[in-house]
Amino acid sequence: MKVLVVGAGSVGQVFGRHYQAGGAEVTFFVREKYKAEVERGFDMYPLNRRRARRGEAVRFEGFDVVTRADEVAARGFDQVMITVASPALRGPWLAELVAAAGDATIVALQPGLDDRGLYLAAGAVEERLVQGLISLISYHAPLPGETRFARPGMAYWFPPMGPSPFSGPAARRDAVVAALRRGGLPAKKHPDVPRTAGFPTAVMMPYLVALELGGWTVEGAVRAGKLALGGRGAREAIDIVRARLGKPPFGTGLLARARVLRAGVFLARPFIPLPLEVYLQEHFTKVGDQTREFLDGYIAKGKAAGLPTAALEQLAAELATARAA
Ligand SMILES: NC(=O)c1ccc[n+]([C@@H]2O[C@H](COP(=O)([O-])OP(=O)(O)OC[C@H]3O[C@@H](n4cnc5c(N)ncnc54)[C@H](OP(=O)(O)O)[C@@H]3O)[C@@H](O)[C@H]2O)c1
Repeated sequence: MKVLVVGAGSVGQVFGRHYQAGGAEVTFFVREKYKAEVERGFDMYPLNRRRARRGEAVRFEGFDVVTRADEVAARGFDQVMITVASPALRGPWLAELVAAAGDATIVALQPGLDDRGLYLAAGAVEERLVQGLISLISYHAPLPGETRFARPGMAYWFPPMGPSPFSGPAARRDAVVAALRRGGLPAKKHPDVPRTAGFPTAVMMPYLVALELGGWTVEGAVRAGKLALGGRGAREAIDIVRARLGKPPFGTGLLARARVLRAGVFLARPFIPLPLEVYLQEHFTKVGDQTREFLDGYIAKGKAAGLPTAALEQLAAELATARAA
C-alpha cells in the first residue's frame, strides 16, 4: 500500500510512522522549506511505552519526501491523508493535490463545520472521501520544563479507550482503519465522523480561549472568571452546531459545564503522561489562527441562525485584546 501523508508536523509524523509500521510505503508531501529536514528522519517518543516516557527515542525514517503535485501524480497513491490545520485547507494547493491524487482515498482529518465543503469544492468526491478525527496528542518535545528527553523529538500519546474514528465509503474507510491498526495506531470505524466531530470541537474551542485568557492554566482561568465564560461559550457553540448537525452525542452538554470540565481535568491529570497545560499552550499557540477561525465561524453561523452568541463574542473580543497586547 502506498500512502501520502500531507504535512510532516506533529500529527503527520505520528500517522506516517504508524502507517509505515503497518507495512505501508510512506511518502510525505511537505513545503519545499522543510524537505531537507524531513528527509533526515525523526526521533519520536511514543509515550504509551514506558521506555519513551523515560526519554528513549525511536527512529522514524525510510520514507520518501515530495513537494509538488506533479510528483504525487507520477507516483500514484492508495491513500492521501491530509494532516494540515483547518486554515491551511484554503488555497489553490488543495485542488491541485486532489487532482494529482487521482483514484486515491482522500483522508480528511479537519473537524471544522466548513472543512468538508472545502474538500468537495477542491474536487474531492464523496465516493473517495474518508473523514477521521484525531484523538491523539503529539508535540515537539521537550516542552518548556520537560527534562526527560535525551534529545528533541516528537512525543505523542494515544489516550486509552479513545481510538481515532473514521467514516466514509465502507471499503475505503475499512482500508484506512486496517492500515493504521496494523501499525499500532488505535483507530475504529464510525458511522458519521463529520456529524460527531462538530460537537467536541464546539465544546473545546471556547474553553481553549478561556484557558488562553487565564494564562494557560485551568486555575488561572477559574480565578479570572474565564472558565465559566468558556462554558457559556461552549453551550452557545453546541446550539449553533446542533442547528446544523442535529442532536449532539450523549454527555456533550455536561462538558459545557465549567465545574464538570474542571473536575474532569483534575481527575484525568495523573493518568496523562505529559504536562497537559504546557502542551495546550504550545499547541494552541502554534495553531492560534485556527482557534480564532473556529470561534469567528460559530459567531457568524449563530448570528445567521438568530441564536445567542454573547459569550462567544466576549471571548473573541477579549482574545483579540489579549493577543494584541
Ligand atoms: N498535535 C496534536 O496533538 C493535535 C491533536 C488533535 C488535533 N490536532 C490538529 O491537527 C492539525 C495539525 O496539527 P499539528 O500539530 O500536526 O500541526 P503542525 O505541527 O503545524 O503540522 C502541520 C504541518 O502541515 C504543514 N502544511 C500546512 N500547509 C501545507 C501545505 N499546503 N502543504 C504541505 N504542508 C503543509 C505545516 O507547515 P507550516 O508550518 O509551514 O504551516 C506544518 O508543518 C491541527 O488542526 C491541529 O489542531 C493536533
